[in-house]
Amino acid sequence: MRKNIIAGNWKMNKTVPEAVELAKAVVAITKGADADVVVCPTFVCLSAVNDVVKGTHVALGAQDVHWEKSGAFTGKVSCDMLKSVGVKYVILGHSEQRTYFGETNDTVNKKVKAVLAAGLLPIICVGETLAEREGNITEKVVEDHVRGAYKDLSAADAVKTVIAYEPVWAIGTGKVASPEQAQDVHAFIRKLLVKMYDEPTSSVIRIQYGGSMKADNAKELLGKPDIDGGLIGGAALKAEDFNGIVRA
Ligand code: 13P
Repeated sequence: MRKNIIAGNWKMNKTVPEAVELAKAVVAITKGADADVVVCPTFVCLSAVNDVVKGTHVALGAQDVHWEKSGAFTGKVSCDMLKSVGVKYVILGHSEQRTYFGETNDTVNKKVKAVLAAGLLPIICVGETLAEREGNITEKVVEDHVRGAYKDLSAADAVKTVIAYEPVWAIGTGKVASPEQAQDVHAFIRKLLVKMYDEPTSSVIRIQYGGSMKADNAKELLGKPDIDGGLIGGAALKAEDFNGIVRA
């Protein structure tokens, strides 16, 4: 049985004091939740937020990483640096990284391997744009994202990963995918993982939904058999809203 994982992707929001305040509220309000709870602040807030969540039920995640261990990569952060501030999960391949910052299936794959080699856990984002959905190539796009991210990854490593299916047209738009639309793609990914690995491997990989998930639509989405949690943007910036999803 897969345990739901609800992760807040705070994106480029919150100063350090604001992030500390939000983290404290999230720890307090989500106590006793029947799901894995993760908060993913910006790099500059990780250390301060770790001081808040360390030793609690809330895990710490980062929003990206570079695959090299160290060196002349101005502006980048390594897996060891993330580990040193208590990070457990790393979001990779987010559509905003793909759209604005040149992320490709190839760079996602390099990052996935580096994250796993460091003993961290990747949350791998996949999903189609509106034009791709309307062009009936959703499954092709999602398959390319998944196959690209998992290239040369063993089953022993694959079981440590989390996938976030985030249709780009649903991110920050208020236009949530219907539970059926989301379930269809989640089931497609699940079957693809059987083809790439095997049934036991596929059955333990958690697949989150992301894109305008809110307290009032979470229950229906999370009620679907292949939806194992959520990657939450806007609704993760207020503890009460985030908790509404965690409790769903
Ligand atoms: P929203 O919940 O704001 O639509 O963002 C989803 C997302 O991109 C999470 O990574």
